Amino acid sequence: MAYIRGTMQSLFDRRGETEALGPGATLLRGRALPLATTLLAEIEKIAARAPFRRMKTPGGFEMSVAMTNCGTAGWLTDRKGYRYDTTDPETGQPWPPMPEVFLALARGAAAEAGHAGFVPDACLVNRYEPGTRLSLHQDRDEADYGHPIVSISLGLPATFQFGGSKRSDPVRRVALEHGDVVVWGGPSRLFHHGVLVLKAGAHALTGRHRFNLTLRKAL
Ligand code: SIN
Ligand code: FE2
Repeated sequence: MAYIRGTMQSLFDRRGETEALGPGATLLRGRALPLATTLLAEIEKIAARAPFRRMKTPGGFEMSVAMTNCGTAGWLTDRKGYRYDTTDPETGQPWPPMPEVFLALARGAAAEAGHAGFVPDACLVNRYEPGTRLSLHQDRDEADYGHPIVSISLGLPATFQFGGSKRSDPVRRVALEHGDVVVWGGPSRLFHHGVLVLKAGAHALTGRHRFNLTLRKAL
């Protein structure tokens, strides 16, 4: 039995595995798993103060992914463009503060991926439902690209796309599961990335949702 259990674990539990995705880019499998329920409870508290909303792109399209933020600065898009703001335009209030557990996890994961000393001031919270997607883009609204990006996946699985600095560069597809953390910085800081259309499903902790926390040093 112990043997079978050990075999099953090595087949299905990839916790602790790391995978290089590119120069300065690392996937830390299951890195957030021990904190998953805590992270989800924090997301619920954030959303109670700064509700999820579907923002408009500068071109006037409504994004399919619902978003909110916590931290000093929150990422926004509307007809005026992409930017960070310290105030939530929906409530007129500052964004909810960044939970300590987000900070500690992001700092630890970044260090493990070779980017020591990361102190994020912005956390974008994305909520995906089946059928939603995030098209290939670069994160370039931040003041200093010397800081990495830490991206935490919770709930339903997704296919993450990770390309290169040119939009036309080959794109690799990475299956991201509940608890996975991706870190990219240094030479890959401006690499294009996105999320393919989320497949239908039900997750024990999040139902028909996938949540993603993207932590950045914005200001
Ligand atoms: C993002 O690029 O903001 C989110 C990526 C993800 O949901 O995995
Ligand atoms: Fe992004």
